[in-house]
Amino acid sequence: MATSIVPRVPQKVGVVGYGRLGQSLVSRLLAQGSELGLELVFVWNRDPGRMAGSVPPALQLQDLTALEDRHPDLVVEVAHPNIIHESGAQILRHANLLVGSPSALADQTTEQQLMEASNCWGHTVFVARGALWGTEDIRRLDLAGGLQSLRVTMATHPDGFRLEGSLAAAHISGPRTVLYEGPVRGLCPLAPRNSNTMAAAALAAPSLGFDRVVGVLVADLSLRDMHVVDVELKGPPGPTGHSFAVHTHRENPAQPGAVTGSATVTAFWLSLLGCCQLPSKPGIHLC
Ligand SMILES: NC(=O)c1ccc[n+]([C@@H]2O[C@H](COP(=O)([O-])OP(=O)(O)OC[C@H]3O[C@@H](n4cnc5c(N)ncnc54)[C@H](O)[C@@H]3O)[C@@H](O)[C@H]2O)c1
Repeated sequence: MATSIVPRVPQKVGVVGYGRLGQSLVSRLLAQGSELGLELVFVWNRDPGRMAGSVPPALQLQDLTALEDRHPDLVVEVAHPNIIHESGAQILRHANLLVGSPSALADQTTEQQLMEASNCWGHTVFVARGALWGTEDIRRLDLAGGLQSLRVTMATHPDGFRLEGSLAAAHISGPRTVLYEGPVRGLCPLAPRNSNTMAAAALAAPSLGFDRVVGVLVADLSLRDMHVVDVELKGPPGPTGHSFAVHTHRENPAQPGAVTGSATVTAFWLSLLGCCQLPSKPGIHLC
């Protein structure tokens, strides 16, 4: 219900990135922001021309380093992990940060810089759960000390991948090709825009983290308009020796070639509303 998600005090929100997710969040903020107690105070995009005609000129921010002039309470990153590497700590000096590209946190230097900035300025690093189904359940099992293994498989058509390094030259050899299987930390720099769900899983399960959560990236020629995410986890064995086990399978319709599926756009909006309701405190929090 709309009334249950109205923040207690109006929040000033800035959006960094004006692609599929950014455009959706900005249009919702412009249409519904005032009734939800949210005020859009800036939009920044690497290519400012993309905002022409749809973002009011007064809201277009030309220089990201000048964001403090807009006095944001929350800055939402929906651009690229590089923004988190390069500007995340600086943003935290002025506002809470909602990270839309958590694959950036696989880089230990970036994670440390964000933690230091968060502790120093008392602002929160929120991480959008994005396409990760069952985030709370994973976190609870992890907190209880029962999470033994966690494996996240993301499959889609190769047109939906933006691969780098050794994976950029990967050969797609058949209808279904496993491009990577191993620690999430190793995948994030190679597929920074397609490993966010796995990164969110690593953050939901700090006992395993980026080094022990397993990520699998699959190119599947039959999945032209769909992103499929499988989450498989194991808990401790019971009295008869069988282990606790969960397997979720999420089929998310997507435009051909898009890095973000349709249901994930709504998940981001709900993350934005959710983190505006939470108190600002240091640390990394999934929302
Ligand atoms: N957490 C999740 O589960 C999840 C799910 C989907 C997308 N994402 C991430 O959210 C981000 C935005 O997704 P989208 O679907 O809107 O992507 P998109 O490609 O539609 O838009 C990305 C925007 O960021 C800009 N951009 C790209 N590279 C940049 C760079 N290096 N520096 C600055 N700006 C850059 C582009 O110009 C564009 O405006 C991506 O990083 C994507 O991987 C996360």
